[in-house]
Amino acid sequence: MNSTQHTPPLPYYEDVSPGTGCLPPRAWAPGSDAARLSLGGTWAFRLSPTAAAEDDSFARPGYDASGWGEIPVPAHWVLHGHGAPIYTNVNYPFPVDPPRVPTENPTGDHLRVFDLPGDWPTSGQAVLRFEGVESCARVWLNGEELGTFKGSRLPHEFAVAGLLKPSGNVLAVRVHQWSSGSYLEDQDQWWLPGIFREVTLLHRPAGSVADFFVHASYDHVGGTGTLRVDAEPGGGRVTVPELGLDLATGESATVAVEPWTAETPRLYEGTLTTGGETVSLRIGFRTVLVEDGVFKVNGHRVLFRGVNRHEFHPVTGRALDLATMRRDLELMKRHNINAVRTSHYPPHPAFLDLCDELGLWVVDECDLETHGFVDLDWRNNPVDDDRWTPALVDRAARMVERDKNHPSIVMWSLGNECGTGRGLSAMADWIRERDPSRVIHYEGDLSCADTGIYSRMYAPHAEVAQIGARTEAPWGDAALDARRRELPFIQCEYAHAMGNGPGGLSEYQRLFETHERLQGGFVWEWIDHGFARHTPNGTPYYAYGGDFGEELHDGNFVCDGLLFPDRTPSPGLIEYKKVIEPVRIEGDGSGGTVRITNGHDFTDLSHLAFSWRYEAEGVAVGSGELAVPPLAPGESADLKLPAPAATAPGEETRWTVEARLAAATAWGEAGHVVAWAQLPGSAAAAPASVTATGAPRRGGDRIVLGPGTFDAATGTLTDLGGLTLTGPRLDLWRAPTDNDNGASWQPDERYGLIWRELGLHRLQHRVDAVDLADRELTVRTRVAPAATDVGLTAVYQWTADGDRLRLAVSVTPLGEWSCPLPRLGVRLGVPAALGAAEWFGGGPGEAYPDTRAASRLGRWALSVDEMQTPYVRPQENGARADVRWARLTAPDGTGLRIEGHPPFWFTARRWTTEQLDAAEHTPDLVASPDTVWVNLDHGQQGIGSQSCGPGVLEPHRLLVAPAEFSFTFAPLG
Ligand code: GAL
Repeated sequence: MNSTQHTPPLPYYEDVSPGTGCLPPRAWAPGSDAARLSLGGTWAFRLSPTAAAEDDSFARPGYDASGWGEIPVPAHWVLHGHGAPIYTNVNYPFPVDPPRVPTENPTGDHLRVFDLPGDWPTSGQAVLRFEGVESCARVWLNGEELGTFKGSRLPHEFAVAGLLKPSGNVLAVRVHQWSSGSYLEDQDQWWLPGIFREVTLLHRPAGSVADFFVHASYDHVGGTGTLRVDAEPGGGRVTVPELGLDLATGESATVAVEPWTAETPRLYEGTLTTGGETVSLRIGFRTVLVEDGVFKVNGHRVLFRGVNRHEFHPVTGRALDLATMRRDLELMKRHNINAVRTSHYPPHPAFLDLCDELGLWVVDECDLETHGFVDLDWRNNPVDDDRWTPALVDRAARMVERDKNHPSIVMWSLGNECGTGRGLSAMADWIRERDPSRVIHYEGDLSCADTGIYSRMYAPHAEVAQIGARTEAPWGDAALDARRRELPFIQCEYAHAMGNGPGGLSEYQRLFETHERLQGGFVWEWIDHGFARHTPNGTPYYAYGGDFGEELHDGNFVCDGLLFPDRTPSPGLIEYKKVIEPVRIEGDGSGGTVRITNGHDFTDLSHLAFSWRYEAEGVAVGSGELAVPPLAPGESADLKLPAPAATAPGEETRWTVEARLAAATAWGEAGHVVAWAQLPGSAAAAPASVTATGAPRRGGDRIVLGPGTFDAATGTLTDLGGLTLTGPRLDLWRAPTDNDNGASWQPDERYGLIWRELGLHRLQHRVDAVDLADRELTVRTRVAPAATDVGLTAVYQWTADGDRLRLAVSVTPLGEWSCPLPRLGVRLGVPAALGAAEWFGGGPGEAYPDTRAASRLGRWALSVDEMQTPYVRPQENGARADVRWARLTAPDGTGLRIEGHPPFWFTARRWTTEQLDAAEHTPDLVASPDTVWVNLDHGQQGIGSQSCGPGVLEPHRLLVAPAEFSFTFAPLG
C-alpha cells in the first residue's frame, strides 16, 4: 500500500479489516425450527453524497426520519431513483490508491423500526443476519453500535439479544458504496450499492446449533454412504429416517445409499437436534476426488457442461427472488447444462439449495477480484500484501462456512482475476484445512501452486488440444509444471457469448470428449446484464454501460450472456444445448441404422424415450418409436431404422431421431427434447432448371425479360410479375457482431474493424455492360470500396421461362485481399407487405458457419419480425442456413418464391444492413414502411468468440475466392 496524505487511523470503511463486531461465520440453516423474523420490506432511506455528510444521530431511537424517502429491502438504491449504476469491467471507477476511496462516496442510511412478534421467545439469544450488503455497512440497534462489515456477497451476523425490546426496535444501517472492500470486488459487472439480500432476525434458543458440518461420502465400489455430522456444541442427535439412522453428532455410520450426482440429485431428509433447536438437513452422499489426473465424483470422470452465472435481474439487479433463481436452474437443466460457476462470488444461499435439489455441479467462487491492478503491473495488489490477508481469509471462511453442507458444491474457487500472491495461498491453506473433501480452484495462477485443478479462460482450441495431451508449454518452475501436468483441466470461462455467438462450441466439445484430461468448461456467461428501460416515447430496451452517464465504462461488454436480460434464451443457448447434449445420435443414413451413444456420466438411458420421423421436403411422412436399450454411460448401440416410406422421385428426405424425457422431472415436462439428430435420407434432385424461353427486349429505359422488368441503364431488376423490387445486387457487408469487432486486447484479426477500414460498408457498383443476347441478359459490374484497388467483379446472368427468372451470379476477386469477407451474396428489396416468410432449410433459429449445430432442416414459417434476434446492441443476426427455397408473402397471398442453387443463407429484415450497423439500442431500428430487405447469401464468415476469446477457426472463414451461385425467382399469387 502506498496511499498518500492520510493520517491513520483510517475510517472503518477504508481500513483493510473485514469489519468489527461480527459473529464467526457458520453454516446456513434455513431448515431451523428456531423463530425468525424477516426485516425485509419498506425502510426509510436517505442518500448522502459522502460518507461523512451526515452524523450518526439517525441511529438513535426517537430520530425523526419523516423527511426521508423510502426504499425496499432488499434492493440497490441506484435502481430506486437514488444515483445511477456504473458499469466497468477491469477498471476501478475511482483512483487506485488502496485502501483509500473517494470523498464522493454515496452513502445510504437505512432505517427500520420493528416490533417482535407476540410469540417471540423471551429466553435465549438472538442474531441479526445480513445476507448481502454492497459494499460496507455500519449497523446500530436501538442506538447501540453493533459493528461494521465488508464482503458484499457474504453473510454477516451480530449478537443482539440484550438489545431487543418487544416493540419499537430501531435498526439503523449505514451503507457506503465505496470501501476498502471495493478493491476486492472488481468483478466485471455493475457497481450496485445497497442492502441487496435479506436482513433477518434469528432467535437462537439456549443449546441451539452454533454450526454444523455434514460429511456424507459415497463409496462407489461398495454402494455405501458414510455419514457424520459434526456440530457445535456437541451432544446433538442426527436422524435420517429413510436410512434408519439415528446417530450422535460426531458419530459416523455407513449404510447402503443412492449417491448424489448432478444427474441423480438424490437427497435424504434428516434432522439435527440439539437441546434447543432442530435443523432439517438435506443430505447428498458423494465423494469428490482427483485420481490419476482426472476429476472424479463417486469414482467416475465428470464432464462439465457449464455456465458462469452472475446474479442478475433486469429490474432488480443482484436482488433476486427465489422464483428467478429456480427459473435459472430449470432453464439450465432444460438446456443440458450440468454445472455452474458462481462467478464471481457466492450466490444467494437459496440458489445452492436449488442446485442440490435440481442437480448441478457447482464451483462456488469467493467474492474476490482485483483485476483493476493488472494495468498497474499488479503494484499494490491486495492479494499480495499481508495487510489484506485477514480480509481475504475472512472472505474464504465466510463462503466455506456458509456453504459447506451443499452436495452440489464440488470445488471452492478462491476468486477471479487477482493475479497471484500470498493472500491467495493463505485462503487456499485455510480452505484445505477446513474442508479437504473438495478441490480448490483458481484460474489466475498458471503454476497451480494452490489448486487441485488446472483452469484457464478462453484458451484457443489448439492450445486446449495441447493441454489435453498434457503437453502444454512450461510455465516456469519445473516441479510445479510437472505437478500441473498431472492435474485435470477445465476452462472456467470459454466461448464468450457476447451478442451473436459464441462460435466454435462444437469444436471445443469434440476436444472435451476426446481427451480424458479435458473435463469441459463454463461458457461465459449465463445472462446479459441489461437494465430494462424505456425511451421517452415508451419503447422498451435494455441499457448497458454508458447509458447512465458514466465517465468510465465498458459499454455493452456487460451483455455477453446466453440469455437475453429477460431470460429469453438466445440462439447461443440453443446451440450450446445441442452441442452438449448427453446422448449422441449419429449415422449417415446409408445402412438404415442409427448409432446411439450414452454421454451421461452416471445414468443409463432408461429415462429417455426415443422416436424417429421420416421427412420428405421437410414434411413428415412417417414416424414411430425407437426401442433403445438402457445403455450405460459410454455405451453405444447401432439400431435399425424402419424401411423408409416411399416418396416422390427427387424429393429430399431426412431422418430425425429424438431423445425425449420419458416422464416429467423437477425441471422438464415429459416429452422435453434432450437430444436429436438428423440423418440424411435421399438427396434432392437437381433443382428444376429454368429453360430459357424468353428473350430480353429493350424498350425505352427498360428491359423486359419474361416476368421481369429491368432498368436499362443499370441492368437492375425493378419488377417481377407486378412486384416492385430493388436489386438484387452483390452485397458483402454485415453489421459487425461483437465477436467480429473483437476486444481491444486482441492482437489481430479484428475483422469488424478491418472490414470497416477497408470500406466494405460503402461499396461502389460500377456497371460495365448490360448485354442483351438471344435468351439472356448479362450485366457486368465491378464492385469495390473507394480508395483501394481491391474489389470483385460480379456478373449477373438472367434467363427466364414463362413465369420465372433465374439469376446466375459469378464473382471474381480483384487485387490482393488480406481479409475474409463478412458475407457474399445479393441484397434484394421487396415490398414491405411481404412480411411472412416460409422456407425449406435450416431453422427454426438463426445459424452461422460455426453456430449451426442446432439448425435443423425443415419447413419453417415465421414473420419477418420474428426472424430478428434482438441482441441488446443490434448487430448481424437472423440468417437461416442451408435454405433450399424461401417464400415471402403478403396477407393477400401475393409474394415471391426464391430457390437457391446451391442452398443459401436467408435473411430478411425491415431495415438495411447499414441501419442495423448504425443502431446502438433496439429502438434505433425503425421498420421501413416500404421495404423488406432480403439477403440471399452464398457465404457467411463464421462468428468465433473474439469479443474475449479466439477468433473464427480456419474452416469457418469466408476466404475471398471466385464463386458462382444462382437463384430462381417466381412471383406468387
Ligand atoms: C473474464 C472475466 C469475466 C468477464 C469476462 C469477459 O476475463 O473473468 O469476469 O470479464 O472475462 O466478459
